[in-house]
Amino acid sequence: MIERPRRLRQSSVMRSLVRETHLRADALILPMFVRDIPEPVAINAMPGVVQHSFASLVHAAQEAKALGVGGVMLFGVPADRDAMGSEACDADGILARALRETRAAVGPDYIICADVCLDEFTEHGHCGVLTADGRVDNDATLAHYADMAVVCAQAGANMVGLSGMMDGQVGVVRNALDDAGYDDVVILAYSAKYASAFYGPFREAVQSRLDGDRRTYQQDPANRRESMREVRLDLEQGADIVMVKPALPYLDIVADTRASVDVPVAAYVVSGEYSMIEAAAANGWINRRAAILEALTSVKRAGADIICTYWATEVAKWLKEQQ
Ligand code: PBG
Repeated sequence: MIERPRRLRQSSVMRSLVRETHLRADALILPMFVRDIPEPVAINAMPGVVQHSFASLVHAAQEAKALGVGGVMLFGVPADRDAMGSEACDADGILARALRETRAAVGPDYIICADVCLDEFTEHGHCGVLTADGRVDNDATLAHYADMAVVCAQAGANMVGLSGMMDGQVGVVRNALDDAGYDDVVILAYSAKYASAFYGPFREAVQSRLDGDRRTYQQDPANRRESMREVRLDLEQGADIVMVKPALPYLDIVADTRASVDVPVAAYVVSGEYSMIEAAAANGWINRRAAILEALTSVKRAGADIICTYWATEVAKWLKEQQ
């Protein structure tokens, strides 16, 4: 026998020597939910994840930073919602306040990404404002995203995550940020975002009231080529980082995206992907730590430079222990 692939698998050191993919804490982003509440509240559908109070949010951001996690991503859960999602653009709203407090606690450079989307803030739960006959109004929504992004930048976000899947959102937000003097604020474009059942637990996390679905703006899970079009359009409009979401059911899209662009590629391991592994582990059906590391490694291997994951801080601890 000339070739014996097993030779390179014979010991832990040998396997380390030839390992092709490595997880790194500084390429993870920790998404967090914040609400104006005295104490954090558990999210039933996401065991181990909470809706943060301001104090626990700040503490968790400091902990993530101390462990070398690359950054945090904030989602606001407002007390009141309306048709326009007005609180999203309010400098005293939940998200802006949380951004200010977090920025004050982690220093000037740490990555704080704000989710720029209306769904947490609208009473109907859609990612944009509606027309008189109840359709999501793409162009009217863009102005809200522009305002929201500027409010978030003013409050301390140095990155904005454009997750709404409105056509033209990247260009409009880029112009608004630049006009307001925030040309350094990075745009993380959710370029290839699918209408996914795996966002289920997130609905509880942000208490979204959506009836129906998002299929008129998020992508059809059956489509692959279409993602390349979305990615191309976002880059033409000035996206700094392009993201694929969800991650694990869309590793082909992560790989395609990596092959087609020269900017960093991110992937978001979403709430349902998190909860599936947690639920199986809680039942003793899989080894939790091994499953988490395998899942995240597969996302890297497919081509993601950056991974958004609710496990970011815990994984950073594990990676530190391994050293
Ligand atoms: C939209 C947004 C969603 C998620 C992140 N940003 C919900 C959606 O598009 O339906 C889902 C994240 C997750 O499921 O973990 N603001």
